[in-house]
Amino acid sequence: MEAPLRVGLAGLGTVGSAVAGMLLRTRDKLAVRAGRPIDLVAVASKDPPRDQSLDLSQIRTADPVALAKGSGIDVFVELMGGSGDPAKAAVEAALGIGRPVVTANKALIAKHGTPLIKLAEKNNAAFNFEAAVGGGIPVIKTLREGLGGAEISRVYGILNGTCNYILTQMQKEGRSFEDCLKEAQKLGYAEADPTFDIGGFDTAHKIAILASLAFGAEVDADAVYVEGIQSITLADLEAADDLGYRVKLLGVAVKTETGVEQRVHPTMVPKGSVIGEIDGVTNAVAINSDALDLTLVGPGAGGAATASAVVADLVDLASGRRVAPFGRGAAKLTKAVRAPMLEHEGGYYVRLAAVDKPGTAATIAGRMAEQGISLESIVQHRRDKKKSSDAPAPVVLITYGTNEDAMRNALNAIKKDGVLAENPQVIRIEKN
Ligand code: HSE
Repeated sequence: MEAPLRVGLAGLGTVGSAVAGMLLRTRDKLAVRAGRPIDLVAVASKDPPRDQSLDLSQIRTADPVALAKGSGIDVFVELMGGSGDPAKAAVEAALGIGRPVVTANKALIAKHGTPLIKLAEKNNAAFNFEAAVGGGIPVIKTLREGLGGAEISRVYGILNGTCNYILTQMQKEGRSFEDCLKEAQKLGYAEADPTFDIGGFDTAHKIAILASLAFGAEVDADAVYVEGIQSITLADLEAADDLGYRVKLLGVAVKTETGVEQRVHPTMVPKGSVIGEIDGVTNAVAINSDALDLTLVGPGAGGAATASAVVADLVDLASGRRVAPFGRGAAKLTKAVRAPMLEHEGGYYVRLAAVDKPGTAATIAGRMAEQGISLESIVQHRRDKKKSSDAPAPVVLITYGTNEDAMRNALNAIKKDGVLAENPQVIRIEKN
């Protein structure tokens, strides 16, 4: 058997601990799969492993950058997270001396992917990041290698386990947003700063990476339009249920006539659809292409699932399998043309708190008509009897396909008409 692949790993949080545990516990099986042993020889972390059953005290140091460029390792595994230092400095240090890097760091790849792959190419270093998107789901390999013969038109899905967990628990159990978020944190799904999850930024990083792989373009996280799930209420989840929909935080990258649209926002999807049925921390990525459509479903967060993808990257390295990080050389990646959000086309759900007086419904419908927006349904619910007689009445509209610009114009006009007691809630509808 060949010499072992010596691994230096930085970061011993949920994922780092799980990777260390997997390498130690399954060493023999991995050696058979990779054709050589994969040995964890050094770890860098200020704190001991989150999994307290692991004793790594003999191989633990504090400085990840020193580990990344020091002697005695063949591959550097970065599991600290974050787009800045020390993660960025450590990855650059390793790639800069031609050392292969494996990472799960979506923020780093989304923000600095292009210069990093150029550095890797220049120094002939492998650079793998399967765990950056979809946790344990092998979606990067699928787009980069498995669909090499297909022309992809859209990739979209549920890419954040924390948000899907929160939305599912709220909808099924009627529990509060805060309560469900706390539970997701306790279960190890959420980012260190959970506003990354609920604000949609984690999903934005992931969809930017998938868009790059799907369309052969440089990763462009700044091009992603982002809305999070903070404004979603139980009233929206109930109205969606009545209308035959579920609300999911989706990341969507789609080719349009004007370019590539990348967006993250709460989205209505039909209840019986594959995406509509995905509950809890599970992620799902749907891919449409000229040759086939497919959906990958699996655990999108959590130590064991994400560790499986990191270790798979290590097995590839140990056995000498190597593919360009984005499926083609950096010079062959195009600069994608950004399709403006105002040109987005689709159906909309709108929930209004309408002042309950004669003419309000006519005003709302009239402003929609002025913008050429056709309504599929309009429902005004009775005012809550316990509330005062001038309390607003909830009105829920579903539109046929229209565009973002028309919708914003109509809602601005309705606001100016003084018939609303609160800001409108708008949720886009995504077709299967
Ligand atoms: N915080 C992320 C999530 C972890 O909830 O999906 C995986 O990237």
